[in-house]
Amino acid sequence: MSEPLTIALSKGRIFKETLPLLAHAGIEAIDDPETSRKLILDTNHDDVKLVIIRASDVPTYVQYGAADLGVAGKDVLMEHGGAGLYEPLDLGIARCRLMVAGRGPWSEQAQRLRIATKYVNSAREYFAQQGIQVEIIKLYGSMELAPLVGLSDLIVDVVDTGNTLKANGLMPLESIADISSRLVVNKASMKRKHRRVQAFIDQIAEAVRRQENAA
Ligand code: ATP
Ligand code: PRP
Repeated sequence: MSEPLTIALSKGRIFKETLPLLAHAGIEAIDDPETSRKLILDTNHDDVKLVIIRASDVPTYVQYGAADLGVAGKDVLMEHGGAGLYEPLDLGIARCRLMVAGRGPWSEQAQRLRIATKYVNSAREYFAQQGIQVEIIKLYGSMELAPLVGLSDLIVDVVDTGNTLKANGLMPLESIADISSRLVVNKASMKRKHRRVQAFIDQIAEAVRRQENAA
């Protein structure tokens, strides 16, 4: 048996969109995380396990070597900061944009603008670069609600179709970054299991190329 590999994934769109890429590398999950309560999923290879965790926890598991590899959105990676990680591949999946949104165009005002977001570091950095003083209010989800109930002036969140903003009477105002999901690798695993990890990266890179050519 070759060296074991642990890959960290989150349920939902990242798991679904990563499956075809893993299949190209000959890896198939035995259980479905949407129906199984298991957090460590077996695959068709005894030495490859998938750990299923919150999207925002993926960089932490990989940073500390609890997983050798993982798939995480660039939004999550920007927020984490990237310590202990290599980011060798843009998988081109789960595409969206990190944006400032609100009820309408904003203007500088007497009090500091209040920004509700789960992306506190990215939001702070973005407004600091613009030279705008803001108060950041940390939320864990449903950011679109905050301006509707007077919790904040603006939000910073990911936007894809814009339907969620529209359904809540909000509009996209400024784009902070284009987002897609990345393959991340623990720095020590890259050294200790170099051949195995590099072969996996090469297979996934080939799958991404194929998927992009087919699109
Ligand atoms: P957590 O559970 O840690 O709060 P989450 O609920 O944001 O995370 P997902 O909704 O599965 O987790 O999103 C995973 C990643 O997919 C995000 O980090 C982002 O990069 C991307 N993403 C989020 N929303 C969309 C969307 N509507 N369309 C496309 N990609 C998206
Ligand atoms: C994300 C994000 C927005 C929404 C944006 O939430 O926090 O609320 O997607 O997508 P849209 O621009 O296409 O409406 P979540 O992951 O909960 O969204 P989901 O409903 O797309 O899974």
